[in-house]
Amino acid sequence: MYYPQELVEEVRQKNDIVDVISGYVSLKRQGGNYFGLCPFHSEKSPSFSVSQHKQMYYCFGCHKGGNVISFVMEYENFNFPEALRVLAERVNVSLPEVEYTEEMRQKESRRAKLFEINKEAAKYYFYALRSEQGALGKRYLTDRQLSEETMQRFGLGYSLQYSDGLVRYLKKKGYDDGLIRDSGLAVFHEKYGMSDKFFNRVMFPIQDVNGKVIGFGGRVMGDAKPKYLNSPETEIFDKSRNLYGLNFARTSRKNGIILCEGYMDVIAMHQAGFTQAAASLGTAFTPGQAMLLKRYTQNVYLAYDSDDAGVNAALRAIGILRDAMLSCRIINMQPYKDPDEFIKNLGTEEFEKRIEDAENSFLFEIRMLKRNYKLEDPEEKTRFYTEIAKKLCQFEEEIERENYLSAVAEVHQINPQSLRKLVVSQAAAGVKVRLPEARSGIQNKNTVEDGQKKVQRVLLTWLAEEPGLFAKIEGYITPEDFTDELYQKVAKQLFEDHEAGHDNPAAIMDLFDDQQERNAVAEIFHTPLARIETKEEREQAFRDIILNVKRNSFAYYTAKMGKDVSAVQRVVEAKKALEALERMHFVLD
Ligand code: GTP
Ligand code: MN
Repeated sequence: MYYPQELVEEVRQKNDIVDVISGYVSLKRQGGNYFGLCPFHSEKSPSFSVSQHKQMYYCFGCHKGGNVISFVMEYENFNFPEALRVLAERVNVSLPEVEYTEEMRQKESRRAKLFEINKEAAKYYFYALRSEQGALGKRYLTDRQLSEETMQRFGLGYSLQYSDGLVRYLKKKGYDDGLIRDSGLAVFHEKYGMSDKFFNRVMFPIQDVNGKVIGFGGRVMGDAKPKYLNSPETEIFDKSRNLYGLNFARTSRKNGIILCEGYMDVIAMHQAGFTQAAASLGTAFTPGQAMLLKRYTQNVYLAYDSDDAGVNAALRAIGILRDAMLSCRIINMQPYKDPDEFIKNLGTEEFEKRIEDAENSFLFEIRMLKRNYKLEDPEEKTRFYTEIAKKLCQFEEEIERENYLSAVAEVHQINPQSLRKLVVSQAAAGVKVRLPEARSGIQNKNTVEDGQKKVQRVLLTWLAEEPGLFAKIEGYITPEDFTDELYQKVAKQLFEDHEAGHDNPAAIMDLFDDQQERNAVAEIFHTPLARIETKEEREQAFRDIILNVKRNSFAYYTAKMGKDVSAVQRVVEAKKALEALERMHFVLD
């Protein structure tokens, strides 16, 4: 590291972690800590905690944690010196300029150099487009009705016909062969040595949210294949965690972000004033991109192509956005293929209307589903309705499910009463009610499991410390809800002892001979309870824990259905309890 440790320490101390993180996440004080929704995974109830005292953060959901510098690194996708610089600036500490001696240059992180190379390449392509030899590219972009201003804004460029212009340029700038190759902008042939990856294409620099160039897309100017060539993934270019145009869209101050499929769509939309448009990078939309969007908006609009491929891509994106708990609407592009064509033909105002009329993603899914059934055939019609009922089961909240049910019934002229019956029978048949925490593709299975075990431990600790709470959970929580084998054994004993009128958790320890099991039991009863200040917070925390334990139990037994007859009964029981719990407010003394 180039910066002396004392300086790093000074920057860290002057940047209070609560102040800094509050700039990104809305935090609420809870006891000695602050809590908020974790910016690193999707969740409905806050498990992201920031401790002013320890100057650290930790997410009980995804187990990410660290100090103020690592937060900025993680959140902004910065490396250490980048994060340090931002934080130093924030508190007016001046950092010494790093002098690039040859030795330091070698020590400098590869990432920083790869950023430099991409920036140099962007410059190179940019000037090429504006040179005499770039006339072809210029004409192509002009024919596609892009203004000079738009081309500038997106830094559009051109890769010349030569096959090694960029490589020579970069070498002249002093970058070594290995690094040039690792930037993905050059390819290496045994026979001919290194040559440019891109030539004779119009070039679209791809920027991260901070506006740094991390890669390129290059389009042929005619009908040749492949139409687009993209930089390969590198240490600085992760296609699943960046979006084209998001560096502008995130500050557009429009309501929501419009997701489209192509670079040209984004550019055309921005030119038409829709500066909230972004696109994925030549690959399918990913959960990582959904999390990225979630930093900036709650509302996503899909402006995907209107052809079959576009519809299928939209359907997949809808699922991913729903998992990230983002609201999603679909913009109808008919009769045109994509936003670029639409705007060229019908203009800004018409597109504005289409945004206003964007279709709810669930209704869109059902409408697309309908295409697979011949509804004049009664059997197929029944299957279509059953599919709808299954999909309705994904809404956890009854009121939400009911609202969707009425909407679908009306749009597709289905008797709501009959549909409701179908939903009930599907739910009883064990169609999974959605469990966001458990389904998110972002966490791995272990952390979900560990998280669940922790919640169960917290509840057991709490019950052991305050036996009065047994009365509150009666009818909602049984020992079977503790799904870990050991925990269940402990819970059974704890509940039994309580019924018998002698609460004595320490005695439970004696039931276990094995040292490791004893350790585990000790852990169960020593799970730190969050320090809770107000009665309201205490009630909220209690409710969250109960709900959490019950949801897990529901998921656990749902997964066991088919293998275990008694599971069915548990699922039915758990579902009823969950519905009651969700409406319920606990009053604690
Ligand atoms: P135009 O056809 O010029 O209007 O571009 P477009 O951006 O509308 O392209 P299209 O809708 O065909 O494709 C959407 C996106 O998919 C593009 O922006 C690229 O990111 C990607 N893509 C399209 N064709 C190819 C290809 O041949 N190879 C790769 N790797 N990606 C492609
Ligand atoms: Mn297009």
